[in-house]
Amino acid sequence: MPNQPLTSRIEDAAAMLRKAQKVAILTGAGVSKESGVPTFRDALEGYWQNYNPEDLATPAAFKRNPRLVWEWYESRRSRVGSVQPNPGHVAIAEIERLLPEVLVITQNVDGLHRRAGSREVIELHGDITQHKCFDDCKGNPTLIDLDSFVWDKSNPPPYCPHCHSAYVRPNVVWFTEALPPDALHRALDFVSRCEVILVVGTSGVVQPAASLPYQAKRYGGAKVIDVNPIPDEITSIADVFLQGRSGEVLPEMVRLLRA
Ligand code: OAD
Repeated sequence: MPNQPLTSRIEDAAAMLRKAQKVAILTGAGVSKESGVPTFRDALEGYWQNYNPEDLATPAAFKRNPRLVWEWYESRRSRVGSVQPNPGHVAIAEIERLLPEVLVITQNVDGLHRRAGSREVIELHGDITQHKCFDDCKGNPTLIDLDSFVWDKSNPPPYCPHCHSAYVRPNVVWFTEALPPDALHRALDFVSRCEVILVVGTSGVVQPAASLPYQAKRYGGAKVIDVNPIPDEITSIADVFLQGRSGEVLPEMVRLLRA
């Protein structure tokens, strides 16, 4: 019912979740917005409104200007370190505790789901708090602790302390790169068997993450619940669209699940 009030839609969504054995939760930048982490595509404040991803988020950009890319990621990393999980993240961790089997699949690199207490999290686009060798000289990924070796902090990025020939880079997935194969495989396997997929705070435009709700619906017949203040690319296939902020909608959903 298109004109159904939000409270009654949240009740419908909670009823779907209550009946389900397996629930996937796919999140995007919107879930962290209320923590103070900018999204990518929101009008005015989204990163990609102000920066060009081709200058900052591709391997070619890093090769062209490693220091610029390094400093952009370090500024994001420092911001992520100074913010806290918000009620949306906390509610997702609570849904994990209330239902039999829940898998959180996130496109976010900020680690806020884990910090909010989520235990099963697949990070499709990596983790901005980690670093690795650009050439993955010791296997994929070759993670590097920046405090484990001496380097000139006034002249970043450092060279890999193992191969000494490739730069250290953030452990995130850039445009044109493949997702970590294990993470993607686990996510695809789970969504094709889940009964409900709760999609939160994503524009649904970046593949392959954006295809997960479609896979869930097509292969497992899953119900799709979409949470977003504005309609996104998933809304048209959603069984329930909860138009609102995740930090407000999800705590209300948890309240109903507990009742
Ligand atoms: P986007 O910035 O594309 O979309 C964020 C979505 O969150 C939008 O649809 C907003 O309407 C919604 N939103 C804003 N505030 C919200 C709130 N309080 N509660 C819920 N939703 C809210 O971010 P993603 O879809 O995550 O990839 O972007 C996907 C990928 O594109 C990112 O992982 C990143 C980016 O380029 C890489 O860097 C590889």
